[in-house]
Amino acid sequence: MIKFIDEVKIKNKTVLLRVDFNVSLNPNLTIADDVRIRQSLPTIEYLLKDNNKIIIIAHLNNPKKRDHTDSLIRVKSRLAEYLHTKKITFVEDFLKNPHTQNLKPGEILLFENIRFYPGEKKNDPEFAKQLSVLGDVYVNDAFGVSHRKDASLVGLPKFLPSYGGLLLKKEITMLSMLMKNPKKPFVAIIGGKKITTKIKFIDKLETKADFLLLGGGLANTFVAAEGHGLGNSFMKKEDVVVAKHILSLARKEHTRFVLPKDAVVAKGLDSKISEVKKINEIDKKDHILDIGPETQAEFGKIIEEAGTIVWNGPVGYIENPVFKRGTDFLYYSITENTKAISIVGGGDTLAAIAKKEYLDKITHISTGGGAMLEFIENGTLPAIEALK
Ligand code: 3PG
Repeated sequence: MIKFIDEVKIKNKTVLLRVDFNVSLNPNLTIADDVRIRQSLPTIEYLLKDNNKIIIIAHLNNPKKRDHTDSLIRVKSRLAEYLHTKKITFVEDFLKNPHTQNLKPGEILLFENIRFYPGEKKNDPEFAKQLSVLGDVYVNDAFGVSHRKDASLVGLPKFLPSYGGLLLKKEITMLSMLMKNPKKPFVAIIGGKKITTKIKFIDKLETKADFLLLGGGLANTFVAAEGHGLGNSFMKKEDVVVAKHILSLARKEHTRFVLPKDAVVAKGLDSKISEVKKINEIDKKDHILDIGPETQAEFGKIIEEAGTIVWNGPVGYIENPVFKRGTDFLYYSITENTKAISIVGGGDTLAAIAKKEYLDKITHISTGGGAMLEFIENGTLPAIEALK
């Protein structure tokens, strides 16, 4: 059994706290979306109340070597804005100088990107040990990266008393409830580009959800599987067979699979000019880049009636605002249904939030992209198992 920090007494200790600060950045490297930082604040504040010292371990991107572009220094500034009464020291290289000797109760050390060290991704036990000697207990609050078998996630808990943080607890509780006991009708919305990363997720939801609404690049494959031409749209031929299989399974499970009936198309991704077309009228030169108004209306009606909604992946090419309307509309519809339990996850889905007030109207914003998918598929994750 996992023990969470609110079920034990952690007092006067140095806590090694693994969080997921893998925030999305703007091209000029400023933080585009800090949901993950904000979601980790309750655990940090909770631990600081009891005279503990905290050493935060986190990663940013997937660097192969030390590089300023991937430095967590920008995260330190944002964290300091939220925790302005707390002293936070940034530690460039904990192997050279961990700065632990001067750390006082109520203070925080933020270690530089843990992926700057090769031992992290290799899950090197020696590296995990070097980290472990710096603290008395280990806390994992990094749900978003708990599907990785890295040293700071699965290696470190072997050396120290280990607990789950408040965000980890919330994610596990909400996502388990979603799968065990969803309020009906249960509506799953799946967008994004690649079908391959979401096949198991779709498979799993097929046995649970009443409606599966598909959009984005991956919906194209299903549209092709139904025999329609896609023009120049994104699609992987080899996935059509998989899509056909999923569709036939859905028929057996009585899940209603809802594919786009119309689309917003353009001649290229950067295009400012777009056109709405029925899905059976796509031209050779067209790129399908968003769901159309008829699809929006159909999705909207299903969402309006939903008891539970889970959503992962935008339904359009949101990098170009011309093709973001479908995704904006989904946010609007989900937040209008105040009776439903709604769970939204995935980095791109969160980055697409147009209005901050939507955040407060969604029951649970999952900090996991891949982790949320894998948790729903398997009911657990490697770093969660490591806490047991
Ligand atoms: C994420 O952004 O999904 C997590 O932080 C995991 O990052 P990774 O995919 O680089 O392991």
